[in-house]
Amino acid sequence: MTKAFVVGHPIKHSRSPLIHGYWLKQYGLDGSYERTDVAPVDFGEFLKSFRSLGFAGGNVTIPHKEAAFLGVERRTAQAERVGAVNTLWIEDGVLWGDNTDVPGFMAHLDASLGTGWERDVDTALVLGAGGAARAVVAGLQDRPLKRIVVANRTLSKAEDLVRDLGSDGSVRLEARAWETIPQVLPQARLIVNTTSLGMAGQPPLDLDLARAPHDAIVADIVYVPLQTPFLAAAAARGLRTVDGLGMLLHQAVPGFRRWFGVTPEVTPALRALILADIEGHR
Ligand code: ATR
Repeated sequence: MTKAFVVGHPIKHSRSPLIHGYWLKQYGLDGSYERTDVAPVDFGEFLKSFRSLGFAGGNVTIPHKEAAFLGVERRTAQAERVGAVNTLWIEDGVLWGDNTDVPGFMAHLDASLGTGWERDVDTALVLGAGGAARAVVAGLQDRPLKRIVVANRTLSKAEDLVRDLGSDGSVRLEARAWETIPQVLPQARLIVNTTSLGMAGQPPLDLDLARAPHDAIVADIVYVPLQTPFLAAAAARGLRTVDGLGMLLHQAVPGFRRWFGVTPEVTPALRALILADIEGHR
């Protein structure tokens, strides 16, 4: 039997076991996927010992993604770019780390909007400059956009992101102060919220979308609630919206393939299952 884990601290709210458990059953595989709570002081030891505990690999979540980045022996190019690892596996005896939030976000955009959506997008505006923003920017950089503007409350963090990722690809990357968002909005055909604003228990992302183009696409990576106040405001203006749940589902695909050898599908039934769980816990 193949065993995989999700390691974090705390970990009890992770929905990854529900996603992978659904696929294991769906594809009739003899495997398991379990939650593992490991405190930061013990994470280095966990990285060394999970093989001897019988695990093929697993997912890494808060607060271990940077420690995993430093602790693996090899990294994929996208993990290298983001500076964080969320997926671990062993290949020819070597501990590998990947960052599947990058293809996860992009696969969700493609699935929601249809391939070729970038044709109409000249400037993308990314709100926030944390780990999630890095994954979003790294994904967008591989697409034929002209410019990605990163606006953050703490300007220096946006500048750090641009410095770290700016040399990849041909898309122009710019850091902006949060207060300058109204000036960027008229050019922004893709607007992505990567901040925690709008999440249950947090203040909403209060942005006047009146200046955004009428054909702008508005995406949020927050998925509790599924329709954030920001997405609701965008929908009220008739803008196309992309919710945050798909990124969570799509980022799970590459790990499942590595550990269990099957490329799983993100289906409406899986989405409904996770959505019911989110609704049930609110
Ligand atoms: P993650 O790894 O999930 O991206 P993070 O690294 O803590 O989480 O980043 C959170 C992001 O939300 C940051 O860009 C943060 O802005 P700061 O860098 O200025 O802290 C942003 N954020 C959180 N609360 C905010 C608020 N009230 N207004 C604006 N941005 C906020």
